[in-house]
Amino acid sequence: MGNDKKDKALIDIQNVGLIYEAKRKPIKAIEDISLQIEKGDFLCVLGPSGCGKSTLLRIIAGYLKPTSGICLMHGKPIIGPDWHRGVAFQSPTLYPWMSVRKNVEFGPRMKNLPEDDIKRIGRYYLEQVDLIDFSDKATFELSGGMKQRVALARALANEPEVILMDEPFGALDALTRVNMQKLIRDIWMKNNSTIFMITHDIDEALSLGTRILVMSKSPGKILKEFKLGFTYTAMENKYGRIKIEEEYMNIKEEILDMING
Ligand SMILES: Nc1ncnc2c1ncn2[C@@H]1O[C@H](COP(=O)(O)OP(=O)(O)OP(=O)(O)O)[C@@H](O)[C@H]1O
Ligand SMILES: [Mg+2]
Repeated sequence: MGNDKKDKALIDIQNVGLIYEAKRKPIKAIEDISLQIEKGDFLCVLGPSGCGKSTLLRIIAGYLKPTSGICLMHGKPIIGPDWHRGVAFQSPTLYPWMSVRKNVEFGPRMKNLPEDDIKRIGRYYLEQVDLIDFSDKATFELSGGMKQRVALARALANEPEVILMDEPFGALDALTRVNMQKLIRDIWMKNNSTIFMITHDIDEALSLGTRILVMSKSPGKILKEFKLGFTYTAMENKYGRIKIEEEYMNIKEEILDMING
């Protein structure tokens, strides 16, 4: 039974390190990171700027190969990007020549699904992000928050097994940001998704994550993991706000000390 956890892990990161070959001297970005991501996890990653968060995400996505250790999905090495791992970045990269609908339908169309399925999936995810009425707009006609929602719908439309997000709401104003957080929580709960999200906002991590990883400054290692459930308290509140208790404040302070100290 000792291997139970390993067998179950959707993503299994074992002693992963990455050194960038830079001009003057190599940069050790992350070192000896081990982490298992299970189905249904909402994992938030916090850490000082430059500690290697995006590097870790790019390794999981398959954009970068670790220089030491190994990263597995369902027990098989990740050798390149594929649609089982959907990525959403801070500044959404939409196809400007395509309508909102076509952007969201892009993945299913690349998979050569039947036209009816492509349309159904596109409609479903546009409804989830509340953009169905904007389906035929060009992406340049949208606000920043709307573009972020299209990018999210496009990532979801591939029905990936894990969604990787690199500070997805960083460029949004405070109000839109809170709405996006609520949206992503709802989508995560409804679809039982697995999410790996980098953020620099401790409150965002505390209010969404079921797990928080705090990384040390470069070369990034995992300093501590917190398991939490504040996100579930949002269900009990009619405005979708989480309950801020003493425990929340204590964990927040502990994380602040770790990141600043
Ligand atoms: N392509 C690259 N070539 C060389 N060095 C890189 C490259 N990308 C990142 N680095 C370096 O690796 C380290 C980690 O960078 P990374 O982008 O992973 O950090 P981060 O935690 O995402 O930071 P931030 O919070 O500012 O986004 C930094 O020292 C950075 O300068
Ligand atoms: Mg980064």
